[in-house]
Amino acid sequence: MIQRTRRLRKNPIIRELVAETRLSKDMFIYPYFVVKGNNITQPIEAMPGISRFSPDQLVKDVEKGLKVGVNKILLFGVGEDKSEDAHSAYDHNTVVADSIRQLKKNFGNDLYIVTDVCLCAYTTHGHCGILHNDYVQNDPTLNILAKMALTHAQAGADMVAPSDMMDGRVGAIREMLDENNFESTPIMSYSTKFASAYYGPFREAADSAPGKGDRKSYQMDYRNAHEAVREAIIDEQEGADIVMIKPALAYLDVIRAVRDNTDLPVACYNVSAEYTMAKVAAKAGLVDGDRIIMENMYAFARAGANIIITYHAREIAEKGWV
Ligand code: PBG
Ligand code: ZN
Repeated sequence: MIQRTRRLRKNPIIRELVAETRLSKDMFIYPYFVVKGNNITQPIEAMPGISRFSPDQLVKDVEKGLKVGVNKILLFGVGEDKSEDAHSAYDHNTVVADSIRQLKKNFGNDLYIVTDVCLCAYTTHGHCGILHNDYVQNDPTLNILAKMALTHAQAGADMVAPSDMMDGRVGAIREMLDENNFESTPIMSYSTKFASAYYGPFREAADSAPGKGDRKSYQMDYRNAHEAVREAIIDEQEGADIVMIKPALAYLDVIRAVRDNTDLPVACYNVSAEYTMAKVAAKAGLVDGDRIIMENMYAFARAGANIIITYHAREIAEKGWV
């Protein structure tokens, strides 16, 4: 007897009925790059459709996003003073802190603000921690990251997201937040972050490329899947509220493995080059960009991601694809 799997594919209604994976606009977080100044909108060449905004322009763009339901954003600060010890990272007047205050003044709790916590945009050498003898020093970096997270919370951030990959940073940030009455501020850890060429366009956008060397002594080796799960579990033990896999497209197996090994919500980060590849190929007329974008989004959800951080979030919401 022929097994007739095609019965349930006959028309759109039955296909919808049996669809195993669903997306909701509530799953998406939209990243923003913010720069100091006023009235600035700088398109990022390597990421068609994405711009750096000064805080006033950020407020305007977020307002447009809110109208279509983009109510969770991730902030990256660009162009702050760079130093060996990254002290500007925890200044109370960084562009990130200013942006949070302005956004909260305008939108209050209608907008959920996540901030990236990392030193690479604040160090002269562009590494994610303090450099000594050409090696990124783990423990001396922890307190600076914790102070940076605290500054963001004090400015009004709803959640902090450390992306540096130092050992022990989730615990250090948790302790700092708790000691300062921010015990209710969650940590979304970039727990499982690979040393990846897929961050190329972001480093242009955020001006955060390492001047010398690479990030392989702290970000993960992409050949390792067991270690990837271990990283997520360690962060859970240190107090992370959400764990993340980054990048996403080439790491669907890792998303699944982490999903199966933690009870925390699992996020994935559809990173800059993943975005750029889809956009540029579509612009050149070589692929159907709209369809490729959504095929990718469903793949993340099917692999087990509960939360998707993506530069496509705004377009997906505007076009009503979810
Ligand atoms: C900073 C950071 C990076 C990204 C997010 N946070 C770059 C890096 O680690 O080099 C990449 C995001 C993207 O490519 O979209 N540590
Ligand atoms: Zn970094």
